Amino acid sequence: MCGIVGYVGPQNARDVVLEGLRRLEYRGYDSAGVAVLTGEGMATAKRAGKLANLEKVLAEQPLPEATIGIGHTRWATHGGPTDRNAHPHLSADGSVAVIHNGIIENFAALRGECEAAGVEFASETDTEVVAHLLAAEYTRTPEGPGRLAEAMRAVSRRLEGAFTLVASHVAEPDTLVASRRNSPLVVGVGDGEYFLGSDVAAFIAHTREARELGQDQVVEIDRQRGLTVTDFAGTPVEPKAFTVDWDAEAAEKGGHDWFMLKEIAEQPQAIADTLLGRLGDDGELVLDEVRLSDQELRDIDKIFVVSCGTSFHAGLIAKYAIEHWTRIPVEVEVASEFRYRDPVLDRSTLVVVISQSGETMDTLMALRHAKDQKARVLAICNVNGSTIPRESDAVLYTHAGPEIAVASTKSFLAQIVACYLVGLFLAQVRGVKYVDEVAAIVDELRQLPDAVARVLTQMEPVRELGRSLADAGTILFLGRHVGFPVALEGALKLKELAYIHAEGFAAGELKHGPIAVIDEGTPVVVVVPSPRGRSVLHSKVVSNIQEVRARGARTIVIAEEGDEAVVPYADHLIRVPRTSTLLTPVVTTVPLQILACEIADTRGFDVDQPRNLAKSVTVE
Ligand code: M6R
Repeated sequence: MCGIVGYVGPQNARDVVLEGLRRLEYRGYDSAGVAVLTGEGMATAKRAGKLANLEKVLAEQPLPEATIGIGHTRWATHGGPTDRNAHPHLSADGSVAVIHNGIIENFAALRGECEAAGVEFASETDTEVVAHLLAAEYTRTPEGPGRLAEAMRAVSRRLEGAFTLVASHVAEPDTLVASRRNSPLVVGVGDGEYFLGSDVAAFIAHTREARELGQDQVVEIDRQRGLTVTDFAGTPVEPKAFTVDWDAEAAEKGGHDWFMLKEIAEQPQAIADTLLGRLGDDGELVLDEVRLSDQELRDIDKIFVVSCGTSFHAGLIAKYAIEHWTRIPVEVEVASEFRYRDPVLDRSTLVVVISQSGETMDTLMALRHAKDQKARVLAICNVNGSTIPRESDAVLYTHAGPEIAVASTKSFLAQIVACYLVGLFLAQVRGVKYVDEVAAIVDELRQLPDAVARVLTQMEPVRELGRSLADAGTILFLGRHVGFPVALEGALKLKELAYIHAEGFAAGELKHGPIAVIDEGTPVVVVVPSPRGRSVLHSKVVSNIQEVRARGARTIVIAEEGDEAVVPYADHLIRVPRTSTLLTPVVTTVPLQILACEIADTRGFDVDQPRNLAKSVTVE
């Protein structure tokens, strides 16, 4: 959602904060703003639009040198993406500057209270209320060390909703305070300097030593007193230390035009790293980090997979694999719907939550609901130390590395692979698959990085095709079995990047209505299952290709090498290496990512930061 940066230390705060914002811009790009605190007072600059707009202003009117600074990049919720609504927000007397990620749900009542006291608001945001409350609370708080933190605790106790807040006060030129509930915040610890960030990317260029903050905690960083963390009541808390396991280079484009292209290219590595250390030599899976006992795993009688967007599509693929391998019923649901329909959950239900960021609010709320109902929760997550794995009973990290482009690519493939691992591990522990059967599939998993690398070497025709589709009005995606979620993912990628209407369908469902939209020349992408193994499925899809072609569709067929049956019906044929049916999404997704990226690029759009979106959605 929004990106938050804070800095206290000897470097010029303005530069450190701006650099942090550059790395966090993928979290939101409706506006950007910075405030620095000097002995002379507070200086701020903010602008609607991308960070580049703010940088232009700062190039003409630089902020003064300072050792304390905060910065914000916004994904708008309350109030449009204007200069006025850009953060930081100041209190009416100018003493306090605040930046915020999240939504203050009771802001209307609090705003009414401030207005009744004579405060005039300068913006339409929910955030501004915090600046006024904090300024008022500060005057009521006894003087002495920790005064701003004490005021922040008092204000935080009154807030409802989700928030990460960072604030500074003109009377405390050496101090920043921050507070968090349901929204991410990490602290970077350097040599005589401290950083605050929505995620570690904000400070990775300076330090890899970090501290995790828990729910409902306030942190004070002070040039003299250092780092102090308490809960909202003021009880000291020891924050959990961790070392970031990637470096600044991992968050650079590395010669690619777009982060998305770099991340697509990194997919073989992301898969290999996600498998690393988890496949034993004897073919057994070793998932020590799944902190559920064998007995707990044996007691599971139902699985829910809950997630959003691309992660939801990974969940749909998981269903096919987990049910097939374990014979445990699996339901897959979008997180935003899950808790509102009162799902039947108990101690023997396993809820698998999938999230790249580990911060998606819909998924977090679903997780909490599942835990309230006594279900066991296993998180599949890419960001170490984020909220979702922290609150889950067990976690299986995907090791895809930092994903900066808003559209998920490498994290998706890593999630699918992690889901396979969960399914096979359950089958192994429950004894429903023989060791050699698990070993055979494990062996195939080991081949996946090479298979994806091979797909990547054959993408020039796909790029060419993408350029020819740039003016398409609508594109349909069809698939059956595990090809169906791949079709959904292909359509999502196209919509979010190229702003072209696209829909994914179960290929067999088309004839029940949607086939009516097919017209002369409508591009239809068909994900074809392997002709080996489940050949009935294959022949049905070949029939579906013929059906759409008979109605004028321009068919774009993704089929495995050696599948000759599709050749007569394919206007464009994209080949992928042979893999067993359940594993095919790992290879068939790749051309669809490239296609969407190329179409968006040809249409002149920002591939990494599509309009209206943010990388991590921390509101419900
Ligand atoms: O961080 P998460 O995996 O929880 O995010 C879920 C979705 O918001 C995310 O997958 C979104 O759909 C992507 N932009 C798709 O490319």
